[in-house]
Amino acid sequence: MRILVTGATGFLGSHLVETLIGSRHTVTCLVRKTSNLKYLEGLEYERREASLDDPEALRAAVMGQEAIVHCAALVRATNKDQFFKVNAEGTRNLAQAATDAAPELKRFLLVSSQAAIGPSPNGVVVDETTAPNPIDTYGKSKLQGEREVQKFADRLPITIVRPSAIYGPRDQDIFQIFQAVHLHVRPVVGMGRRMLSLCHVSDVIQVITRALDHEGAIGETYLASTDRPATWREVTSTFAQAMGTWAVLVPVPPPVLHVYAAWNEWIAKWTGKARTFNRDKARVMLEVGWTCDISKAKNELGYHPRIDLLHGAETTYRWYRENGWL
Ligand SMILES: NC(=O)c1ccc[n+]([C@@H]2O[C@H](COP(=O)([O-])OP(=O)(O)OC[C@H]3O[C@@H](n4cnc5c(N)ncnc54)[C@H](OP(=O)(O)O)[C@@H]3O)[C@@H](O)[C@H]2O)c1
Repeated sequence: MRILVTGATGFLGSHLVETLIGSRHTVTCLVRKTSNLKYLEGLEYERREASLDDPEALRAAVMGQEAIVHCAALVRATNKDQFFKVNAEGTRNLAQAATDAAPELKRFLLVSSQAAIGPSPNGVVVDETTAPNPIDTYGKSKLQGEREVQKFADRLPITIVRPSAIYGPRDQDIFQIFQAVHLHVRPVVGMGRRMLSLCHVSDVIQVITRALDHEGAIGETYLASTDRPATWREVTSTFAQAMGTWAVLVPVPPPVLHVYAAWNEWIAKWTGKARTFNRDKARVMLEVGWTCDISKAKNELGYHPRIDLLHGAETTYRWYRENGWL
């Protein structure tokens, strides 16, 4: 299949491009003039240059494609407008371009996020029937992106995949936990008993590729995650085990988290550079749980998570070591 991947230079997108090429698809990567292409080096792909705010370039990029996997998004930003401009308006621009200029399109797959639904209310796992209630600006912008795409449902063969938090080689967010454990610290909010579903990048890709292949996935939404949610205590101790090191559990009281978040926002404001941690992220971390039920992907797509946390952490840690991140 001829597949256009947006966000191809990012964490998830670059792994996805590798997998699709390995499965003999003809892959076109949507990149920007400013994109760093290092994760695409050595791969055989076609390149189209377009930003999500450039409708004309997007129309040129989608021409002749049989599938589009829309991974591009802003995952950190300094303000609400930036999030909505890319994650909602940019997504609408791409859907419009696909409608106008990709008549052979068999699938438009939007990579959304569990953040678009929000946390597990009172610790109850969320599934595809849970009413969306995003609590941070990123999640709200991703939900708006879903709604923009749904407006094209009568003209585009849409599938939405909502991954939970993802980890794996090249990831910069969960990496910060690896960094802390490397310094022999296991930071956890409160007593570390909050639960989360943390999914290895290759398992998210398994959901995406299975959904692309499955005719019945048109018009459907799937959560993509592990079937073994863990507490932060378990996650950090598994990371320490995977890294072959010791680390001391350091419970972080919520007020300290808020101060640290405000400090990060202050730095972001003065440098003009978005940081991973801010008050929104603190709110996210203070929720009781971020767990989800993946039965729908299992039953309808035949998805089976293959990478358990220990094995995933070991290979991810190895990659960070080999690439000089740790
Ligand atoms: N990472 C997670 O834990 C997680 C969890 C759930 C869902 N997701 C979703 O998964 C997708 C990929 O996330 P990621 O973690 O791989 O993010 P990432 O590493 O930050 O990659 C983002 C990609 O989007 C591209 N992009 C950003 N703004 C763009 C614009 N205006 N026009 C064109 N391209 C643009 C970036 O291109 P440049 O290289 O040019 O900057 C980059 O390739 C996103 O949709 C995200 O919401 C991620």
